Amino acid sequence: MTTSNGRLIHDVEGRNSGTRPVIEASQVITPVDQFLTRSHAAYPIIDPSTWRLHVQGLVERPLELSLAELGAVFPTRRVTATLVCAGMRRNEFLSLGPLTGELPWGPEAASTGLWSGVALSDVLRASGVTERARHVEFIGRDEVERHGHRFGFGASIDLDKALGAEVLLATDLNEEPLPVSHGFPMRVVVPGWIGARSVKWLTDIVVSDAASENYFQRKAYRVQREVNSDDPRDVSAGVAMRDVPLNAVIVEPQADRVVPAGTVRVRGWALGSGGRRVIGVELSPNDGQDWLPARSLATGGTWTWMFWEADVVLQPGRHTLVVRATDDSGTVQPATVAEVWNVKGYGNNAWHRVPINVE
Ligand code: MTE
Repeated sequence: MTTSNGRLIHDVEGRNSGTRPVIEASQVITPVDQFLTRSHAAYPIIDPSTWRLHVQGLVERPLELSLAELGAVFPTRRVTATLVCAGMRRNEFLSLGPLTGELPWGPEAASTGLWSGVALSDVLRASGVTERARHVEFIGRDEVERHGHRFGFGASIDLDKALGAEVLLATDLNEEPLPVSHGFPMRVVVPGWIGARSVKWLTDIVVSDAASENYFQRKAYRVQREVNSDDPRDVSAGVAMRDVPLNAVIVEPQADRVVPAGTVRVRGWALGSGGRRVIGVELSPNDGQDWLPARSLATGGTWTWMFWEADVVLQPGRHTLVVRATDDSGTVQPATVAEVWNVKGYGNNAWHRVPINVE
């Protein structure tokens, strides 16, 4: 991993990178130049004047729409949503053993955007989804290579989710046209679900009675806890990921920092699963023995992280700060990474532990 201007970069091409958010009430939305980027292939360069969106499959009226037509026919919708990569906090699993071929993301693999575009539900209704429809597949224009095949990154979501008002076909991020790195000219944004379902450089929507057969739906982004000894990286027998899990992260102080003894201000973010509300964030100054409630600093709404802060009084020495959140269904995060370990290291939402030195 390299660092440039505060950006943690996980590959030589610089297509997989993120930043530590600034935890301040006025900063819930991540500036575009600090936003997470996660891409499995080179960015495709798309001419917006010839680009078309195709809607087909189990629909009464297949559609082919230009950007101008989409903008003219459908109302503009907005949603503020946090995008979380399924691999976020994978680096903590490395304490249990290697995860060969996987990017060692830390908490930087999450960002919050103000997205605007048209609602997927408006487009689906215009196409007349038929009764047999259960899933909606998205295909991007990039060319990923896996096992000797080249294909566009793809994913699918359940029809019920697809009809939710929050799911957008976004053309803008933070009131500006999407940068190429984030899917220009159009991407899907599926608030509350793992980032991999928010397909960038969207060209095709296919309504179907079955989930997508695309590699990234069928073979990757699945939680599988048993290793397939014939092919240790194969997780096709696992469960396809949907909602992001309830999570909480300590952003400051950073791990292994030296801070003065006395009152130490701890800040971070928390996010409920699939749009659930976080009703409590607790901080432990001593590796989970005692807990105190954190204060809410800010939130951007149903689909975003909330920022929190807490003050702890610390004597000189080494201390492990720990955070955990509870959501409105009463769910609390699991305590250890061993409880959530899986073959590809997805969805780590164990209590986040940060050791610091107090002088
Ligand atoms: N869409 C395409 N076409 N290609 C990709 O590689 N990566 C997915 C998703 N959509 C991806 C994609 C993953 S894994 C994530 S986490 C998000 O895009 C990241 O979106 P961002 O780069 O805009 O932050």
